[in-house]
Amino acid sequence: MHSTALVGLRLFLLLLSFGLSCRLMHRARGALPPPVPHWVISRCRPCHVVEKRHGLLRMGRHNLSHNSFSGGLPPELMYSRSIVVLDVSFSRLSGVLHEPPSSVTTTLTLQVLNISSNQFGAEFPSYTWKLMRNLVVLNASNNSFTGHIPPSLCLSSSLAMLDLCYNQLSGGIPAALGDCSTLEVFKVGHNNLSGTLPAELFHATSLEHLSFPNNGLQGELDGANIVKLSNLVTLDLRENKFSGKIPGSIGQLKRLEELYLGNNNMSGELPSTLSNCTRLMVIDLKINNFSGDLGRVNFSTLQNLTHLDILRNNFSGIVPESIYSCSNLIALRVSLNHFHGEISPRIGNLHLSFLSLARNPFTNITKAFHVFNSFRNITTLIIAENFVNEMMPQDETLDGFRNLQYIHMADSALTGHLPVWLSKLRNLKVLKLSNNRLTGPMPGWINSLHSLFYLDVSNNSFTGQIPITLMEIPMLKDNTAAYLDPGQVELPLFWRNISRQYHFLTAFPTLLNLSINNFTGVIPPEIGQLKVLSELDFSSNKLYGVIPLSVCNLTKLEVLDLSNNHLRGVIPAALERLHFLSAFNISNNDLEGPVPAGGQLSTFPDSSFDGNPKLCGTMLVHRCSSTGADVVYVISAKQLSVKVIFFVGFGLFFGVGVLYDQLVLYRYFG
Ligand SMILES: *[C@@H]1O[C@H](CO)[C@@H](O)[C@H](O)[C@H]1NC(C)=O
Ligand SMILES: *[C@@H]1O[C@H](CO)[C@@H](O)[C@H](O)[C@H]1NC(C)=O
Ligand SMILES: *[C@@H]1O[C@H](CO)[C@@H](O)[C@H](O)[C@H]1NC(C)=O
Ligand SMILES: *[C@@H]1O[C@H](CO)[C@@H](O)[C@H](O)[C@H]1NC(C)=O
Ligand SMILES: *[C@@H]1O[C@H](CO)[C@@H](O)[C@H](O)[C@H]1NC(C)=O
Ligand SMILES: *[C@@H]1O[C@H](CO)[C@@H](O)[C@H](O)[C@H]1NC(C)=O
Ligand SMILES: *[C@@H]1O[C@H](CO)[C@@H](O)[C@H](O)[C@H]1NC(C)=O
Ligand SMILES: *[C@@H]1O[C@H](CO)[C@@H](O)[C@H](O)[C@H]1NC(C)=O
Ligand SMILES: *[C@@H]1O[C@H](CO)[C@@H](O)[C@H](O)[C@H]1NC(C)=O
Ligand SMILES: *[C@@H]1O[C@H](CO)[C@@H](O)[C@H](O)[C@H]1NC(C)=O
Ligand SMILES: *[C@@H]1O[C@H](CO)[C@@H](O)[C@H](O)[C@H]1NC(C)=O
Ligand SMILES: *[C@@H]1O[C@H](CO)[C@@H](O)[C@H](O)[C@H]1NC(C)=O
Repeated sequence: MHSTALVGLRLFLLLLSFGLSCRLMHRARGALPPPVPHWVISRCRPCHVVEKRHGLLRMGRHNLSHNSFSGGLPPELMYSRSIVVLDVSFSRLSGVLHEPPSSVTTTLTLQVLNISSNQFGAEFPSYTWKLMRNLVVLNASNNSFTGHIPPSLCLSSSLAMLDLCYNQLSGGIPAALGDCSTLEVFKVGHNNLSGTLPAELFHATSLEHLSFPNNGLQGELDGANIVKLSNLVTLDLRENKFSGKIPGSIGQLKRLEELYLGNNNMSGELPSTLSNCTRLMVIDLKINNFSGDLGRVNFSTLQNLTHLDILRNNFSGIVPESIYSCSNLIALRVSLNHFHGEISPRIGNLHLSFLSLARNPFTNITKAFHVFNSFRNITTLIIAENFVNEMMPQDETLDGFRNLQYIHMADSALTGHLPVWLSKLRNLKVLKLSNNRLTGPMPGWINSLHSLFYLDVSNNSFTGQIPITLMEIPMLKDNTAAYLDPGQVELPLFWRNISRQYHFLTAFPTLLNLSINNFTGVIPPEIGQLKVLSELDFSSNKLYGVIPLSVCNLTKLEVLDLSNNHLRGVIPAALERLHFLSAFNISNNDLEGPVPAGGQLSTFPDSSFDGNPKLCGTMLVHRCSSTGADVVYVISAKQLSVKVIFFVGFGLFFGVGVLYDQLVLYRYFG
């Protein structure tokens, strides 16, 4: 702390002395000052050539960004009469951005102000901007400013870029911003703005980049207004409360490349004129109420389209063939709509990396997989809730998905076995097959999935023992290597909740879910090898034997569910080592003895232990007596294996009968 402050102070003094000498030099010879590393600040005009590139103005070769200053921004800097470029971004500046001292009354020279990614808070200043009439670039993003967007910002006749993203600004978008006739980039996403887009805003006809995602804005997009922004390249209104249709006049926005309208309340059919926006690269309409035939838009004119996301709308009919001529398309998501029919063979011509068809009544999975087999680059394939009651493709010649990292085929009542082609997917990280009707054993090759860390086969009809090879899945033993490739996905994935978005597969937990099947036998003690597992669910099977002591080595476990099996013996006291456990269920087994009092175990409700009449504990109805029967067992490894052998034999004879009851229990109380 002290050294940081000292460095800051030293640099600040350096600046002041530099400024002074610069000024003297300037007076003496009119020369440029020598560049000072890490400080930008051109004090002597004309010190720097203003260069216009990509619509942004850049100047200065040295600056103050990425320092560890703390405290406030000295008003001497902010209201200097000679500084042209001030970049203090990515520092640790905090506090209030002071309004100008009363001594400052004239227009300031500052043209570029970047105070972004600091910890400034309190009210965003408003008077300040009346003095900064030369401002070209203002980046105040990623702070904690509150208050309103000041209307005075446009008093600068040359403001080109305004970035106020990631603050806590509230109120509406001031109509006065329409006076910003030179404004090209306006970003104020991730704030708490409300109200509608004022009609005046559309007078700012230089706008190329208009970005307001994640606010509380509402109203309809006015067709007569939107066409005035004929320079628009990016329109980002995601995650607001906009309603109404996309106006047909959008087709006149010839420069439009990115259209983000996802997570709003928009509706109606898409205007066919969308196909006139031939430069479109991204169309995001997800989570709205758009309806009608997607085929109204001729996608074949959108040759630069890379991302099309219409997740969760009310589109119906078939997926228009014209989409398949968008040869640059890499991410296509049509899930949660009402499309039907078979998968067109033409989709195989695309070089897709991401395809999601989930929850549409598509049919003929065999045909679909033969088409998908040509997707050499696909990393994410989501076909859940389709092809209902069809047979899992078993064709061993399928080998096209070598790059597949994420496959979601759940909720389709698919029949058949786990297909062998899955074993070739060396890059597969996440495999979701829950809620199907798959049968047969869990194949021994499962450990050949070298990258797998999420396996969910719950609610199928798998039988047989849990294979030992399952305990050898490399990424469940040690997943440090998994982070070498975080598995970035082209479109955000949703998991468990529509408001939780994942951009990286490594954000998924390490999970092994075999619940609601007909697995039998004991839980292999080798389970203790899966040291990085965070969720383990073997519930509602026909497992018998004891809870292996080695489970206590799974110290990363957050969820442990072994309920609705035929497990016997005591709860290993060492389970109290599982400090991260937040969900625990061993109900409806045949466990006995006391519930260990230490660690997390005592924090779970009775229902976690119900249905084990021989269990006792301070919080259970059945209190432990002081006689020997309920004393904590300490089982040695040798005793354990004897017990395992015993229970294997026992289970083989008696295990099956109890199952029906268990299932009924699960269904009605699980
Ligand atoms: C300041 O320097 C950083 C690199 O350290 C650069 O990314 C940034 O563009 C510079 N700021 C200005 C205003 O030139
Ligand atoms: C500060 O913001 C300006 C304008 O957005 C930008 O040119 C500059 O690169 C930014 N500085 C850093 C360090 O990112
Ligand atoms: C503003 O600065 C942030 C870094 O703090 C950067 O990520 C962002 O791109 C900048 N905005 C613009 C429009 O350049
Ligand atoms: C916001 O600022 C923090 C540091 O203050 C930085 O770590 C983070 O990357 C910034 N976020 C963005 C979106 O620029
Ligand atoms: C956002 O603004 C609304 C009023 O428009 C207010 O009720 C709410 O508390 C604000 N939320 C935050 C996080 O500031
Ligand atoms: C969404 O829009 C419909 C009209 O299209 C309206 O009836 C409904 O109230 C809106 N819902 C929300 C949450 O704003
Ligand atoms: C825009 O699209 C419509 C319908 O698709 C078409 O009739 C019209 O000719 C297009 N206009 C231009 C200027 O391309
Ligand atoms: C598509 O993108 C390429 C490369 O970015 C560009 O040269 C071309 O003009 C774009 N096509 C259209 C129709 O805008
Ligand atoms: C895979 O992607 C690369 C570029 O990322 C592309 O050149 C290649 O054609 C693609 N291959 C297939 C079969 O899609
Ligand atoms: C699925 O498509 C194939 C042709 O690709 C066809 O032979 C088969 O009959 C179709 N199956 C069903 C159930 O329609
Ligand atoms: C387990 O097998 C029994 C009888 O074989 C069957 O009735 C039951 O549906 C199966 N359970 C599951 C989850 O497949
Ligand atoms: C737990 O892991 C340690 C270290 O890998 C090992 O020595 C020990 O035997 C394991 N305990 C059980 C009960 O498997």
